[in-house]
Amino acid sequence: MYLSEKCKQIDDETFTLQIQKDRDFKILQLTDLHLGFGVLSKGKDKLALDAVKKIIEKTKPDLIVLTGDSIFPFLPKAGTLNNRKQAKKLMAFLDRFEIPYTLVFGNHDCEMGSTCNKEDLAELYKQGKYCIFTEGRKNLTGVGNFLIELVDDTGKVLLPLVMLDSNMYGEGGWFFSGFDRIQDDQVDWCMERLTILKQENPDIQAMAFFHMPLREFKEAYEKMKLGDKSVIYQHGSIAEKHEYFGISKYPGTFFDKAVENGVIKWMFCGHDHLNTLSLTYKGIQMTYGMSIDYLGYNGMKKNYIQRGGTLIERKTDGTVEIGMVPLGSVVSTRVRGVEKRK
Ligand SMILES: [Fe+2]
Ligand SMILES: [Fe+2]
Repeated sequence: MYLSEKCKQIDDETFTLQIQKDRDFKILQLTDLHLGFGVLSKGKDKLALDAVKKIIEKTKPDLIVLTGDSIFPFLPKAGTLNNRKQAKKLMAFLDRFEIPYTLVFGNHDCEMGSTCNKEDLAELYKQGKYCIFTEGRKNLTGVGNFLIELVDDTGKVLLPLVMLDSNMYGEGGWFFSGFDRIQDDQVDWCMERLTILKQENPDIQAMAFFHMPLREFKEAYEKMKLGDKSVIYQHGSIAEKHEYFGISKYPGTFFDKAVENGVIKWMFCGHDHLNTLSLTYKGIQMTYGMSIDYLGYNGMKKNYIQRGGTLIERKTDGTVEIGMVPLGSVVSTRVRGVEKRK
């Protein structure tokens, strides 16, 4: 666990990380690394790790957030089901940068038949020298629902980061059951925590990080394409085949409750490796992080214009800038159906 003068664990669901008021704070979102660390994935893992190294060196972040599918214990592609070994190798790799990092789980970190479940992985990640992680409140759906509060030197909360487990698969519990969602008890927990922060500071704004996109992200995209000016295009594109969004088939309440609560202004997800879109809908900027994946999707190496990282900068005046950090020099910004836009 990364604990220091600057980073403290307050309780089983809260960390504080002290930041400098006179300096911009840089968060690097990396997603869908899909590291296999098995006999079948050696070459692709090297490409992925080299890509991560390159982006970290380029952006020099203060904090790294991994939004799921970091490891990929999928036998046909990785050649191993041992996600304990995968998590250990990932931590050893990240610890070498001496930059604090945190993570949420995706739907692939604990594939069916893998060595560890999420609770086991949580225990491992808590041992990472620079890793900020906890399983979060007991009896809540998912593992790894917690807050990292960025605070100033007086302890005042400047920016809460909410980490949420968007769970794996729905009824039936396997890939073809469809994707799950952030469950109502998690939503209630999150809003309860944010309401307390809002009572302390009515102007507080928060970020949320989770793996799977919300249904409202797709809804907003479709509205934007139909010319709805209330949806503001920010950057990126939807490049998945048939403009696919890997959303849950179950309606969730997270987005509506977040709008109602008013504190969350930014949401970051991964999961769809070719989608990089960022837009603002009902006052919340939803962003697909650029993915790293070389192993999950076939032929991914050629899709270089969508891949990389996402840099989130909190400026000293409290404003936030979000930008793509592509691996190459070209990036796809084409949004199908929207020909003219800024
Ligand atoms: Fe993925
Ligand atoms: Fe995923």
